[in-house]
Amino acid sequence: MARVLVTRRLPGGLDPLVEAGHELIQPEGDRAFTHDETVEQASGVDAIVCLLTDRIDGAVLKAGSPRLKVVATVAVGYDNIDVDAAAARGIAVCNTPRVLDDTTADLAFLLILAAARRIWEAESDLRAGKWPGWDIDQYLGRDVHGAVLGVVGFGRVGQAVARRATGFGMEVLHHTRRETGIIGWRGDLDRLLAESDIVTLHVPLTDETRHLIDPRRLALMKRDAVLVNTSRGPVVDEEALAVALEEGAIFAAGLDVYEREPEVHPRLLGAPRTVLLPHIGSASLATRTRMARVAAENAVAVLAGERPEYPVTGG
Ligand code: DGY
Repeated sequence: MARVLVTRRLPGGLDPLVEAGHELIQPEGDRAFTHDETVEQASGVDAIVCLLTDRIDGAVLKAGSPRLKVVATVAVGYDNIDVDAAAARGIAVCNTPRVLDDTTADLAFLLILAAARRIWEAESDLRAGKWPGWDIDQYLGRDVHGAVLGVVGFGRVGQAVARRATGFGMEVLHHTRRETGIIGWRGDLDRLLAESDIVTLHVPLTDETRHLIDPRRLALMKRDAVLVNTSRGPVVDEEALAVALEEGAIFAAGLDVYEREPEVHPRLLGAPRTVLLPHIGSASLATRTRMARVAAENAVAVLAGERPEYPVTGG
């Protein structure tokens, strides 16, 4: 029997760990362990099941060594984990791809529609009693059907968004560094940005993708373009995006992720034609439960000396 630190109680999905007879160490109630508590607890556990909000850095991994065998995150993104330090200590890191693809793609498409059609402004005015009645020039948005969609990063979520786009009669372009052999591939991101009416971001956060969308690239986009980000906040320079929206350099934005969550850049909060959601891309009960289950299965496999289904590093 192993001891498994779960940094926060989850809405279900941990049964594989329980069925394997492992002991779970979890915080009381509805709070997450702090970083200090995680460091403190790490020395006495064989596995950590964590969330994207937990910083699993050198301090946690050092405290866990040599007993800690695996860090299994309940997320596809793992930029919160020092993967190199884990590998150096022989600690496996696992994530939960696939199970959240469609749920996240649904939300990206929701943001595409909501930002392009100015849903937030229209609904807020109505709720605030500021709607004077129908008029011919109110809340004029841009059409989504028939528009050119630029998908930046063409992994599983990006492809799932592209599938939805074909149902809307959109032309789909996509950017990856390596050629995909699929129609619409643009190896040059600048070219994709200049050609697209709507741009949706689906890249992991790495040193190369931090501020991928910066002032220069925002300036390449069409003035009636929409930018959607459901990947990681730091992929976009938020200050530059706020300026672009204020100046009308692009038409609208739909964001689910932020550079310094849970803070949102104050200029974005006031920026025109901007839909802001609190990182809910994968937030359906079914998907979050599946993600927890996959993380639990990953941990069980490593603890049993087997290869987990979704290794990020082998340990
Ligand atoms: C992930 O899994 O990385 C997502 O951001 C969670 O919604």
